[in-house]
Amino acid sequence: MTTLRSTPVAVLSGTLQVPSDKSITHRALLLAAVSDRVVTVESPLDSADTGATLSAVEACRVPVEGHLGGRVEIRGRGLRGLLPSPAIDCMNAGTLMRLLPGLLVGSRADHVILDGDDSLRRRPMGRIATPLRRMGAAVFTSPGGLPPLVVSGGVPLRGMRHDLEVASAQVKSCILLAGLFADGETWVSEPVTSRDHTERMLAAAGVPVMYADGAVGVRGPVEGLSLPDLRVPGDFSSAAFHLVAGALLGDPEVRLTGVNLNPLRTGLLEVMRRMGVAVQVTVGPDVAGEPCGEIVVRRTDHVNATEIAPEEVPSMIDELPLVGLLAAVARGTTTVRGAQELRVKESDRIIALVRALRGMGVQAEELPDGFSVTGGTHIPGGSMDAGHDHRFAMLGAIAGLASRDGVIVAGFEAAAVSYPGFAADLRALGAGV
Ligand code: S3P
Repeated sequence: MTTLRSTPVAVLSGTLQVPSDKSITHRALLLAAVSDRVVTVESPLDSADTGATLSAVEACRVPVEGHLGGRVEIRGRGLRGLLPSPAIDCMNAGTLMRLLPGLLVGSRADHVILDGDDSLRRRPMGRIATPLRRMGAAVFTSPGGLPPLVVSGGVPLRGMRHDLEVASAQVKSCILLAGLFADGETWVSEPVTSRDHTERMLAAAGVPVMYADGAVGVRGPVEGLSLPDLRVPGDFSSAAFHLVAGALLGDPEVRLTGVNLNPLRTGLLEVMRRMGVAVQVTVGPDVAGEPCGEIVVRRTDHVNATEIAPEEVPSMIDELPLVGLLAAVARGTTTVRGAQELRVKESDRIIALVRALRGMGVQAEELPDGFSVTGGTHIPGGSMDAGHDHRFAMLGAIAGLASRDGVIVAGFEAAAVSYPGFAADLRALGAGV
């Protein structure tokens, strides 16, 4: 276990190119694997999570050359051509475990077991197994709707409409992928639209993606996919750590380049502005069919508390703990509601946040569907455990820089799940971590 001592700094400044987007990398690797061509993916994220997906692709006998972080060439086996090994380890990657079954149901998979680490084994999978089974697929969870999953392919699927109770890009993506093999139309509606990377990539690969009555759909069976070569843009969720660091310490500024600005991901920007933080966004040319650009943020001495409404949650689902951190120095009490999904992420992120903030002397309360944080003049500092959750390892590091006494982060190695170079990037901005 690695312990990080994050000591206070006066200012942070500089320019960073944040690592490539995790969600887009997972999707690019998976869709390339079932394409009819050799697909070149430039700068796929090199992290533990995306490494799990690349290994899963190889475990489906898809020829792969190159390496993550550089360039990967994937010789797609065609939509129905995956030949999975009997067991696939998804490690910590929820996106892999939820998207891959959507492809395996159309393959010759026979009783493929999908398993993962202890954290993934606690995450709900009934939310994909149930809709896939309604379509006719052979997908089974372990008791309680948990991993391991058992997936078989080769069963005829029927298209239908699914009205999700919870907004989830992973569930929506899984269903749409299965819809490629189904007879007729498969539709998915969500209470609030979640990130649409899968829809964009399917459209780029030649699949007509339909939108009607607040739902998104595909018409199957689709003959084949032809994903064009693509470059993966920077991850907004990774940039978010530096955005909050910049709001607390950026002087003269922290500049983040090549960041994916998909509007369904960037809710944090709106919240930061509402809290009084100066953030400037410059949108550049699209990358991989996604808006992309530069973000500049400066330190703000007067941060105001805010309320996050349930309908805002999907656009900042992974950034909500950072809202909690910013709230620690805001005037007033910040409240987040309608965010019960946080309880089934890599950890129970409501409990994890409240525990982490209290461990550094900040006043925070757990709510059934969110949390509240009452700001003070500063973050006193203390210690916390990342609890095997990458986003908390990084949150602790940022908190320490802006604190009075520093923060000791146990289990810092978890950061490598999405951002192995995080500490080095912080040092590049002037941090002494
Ligand atoms: C993701 C969707 C979100 C997000 C996760 C990545 C994706 O999960 O929290 O980090 O790549 O589709 P849900 O779909 O479960 O909300």
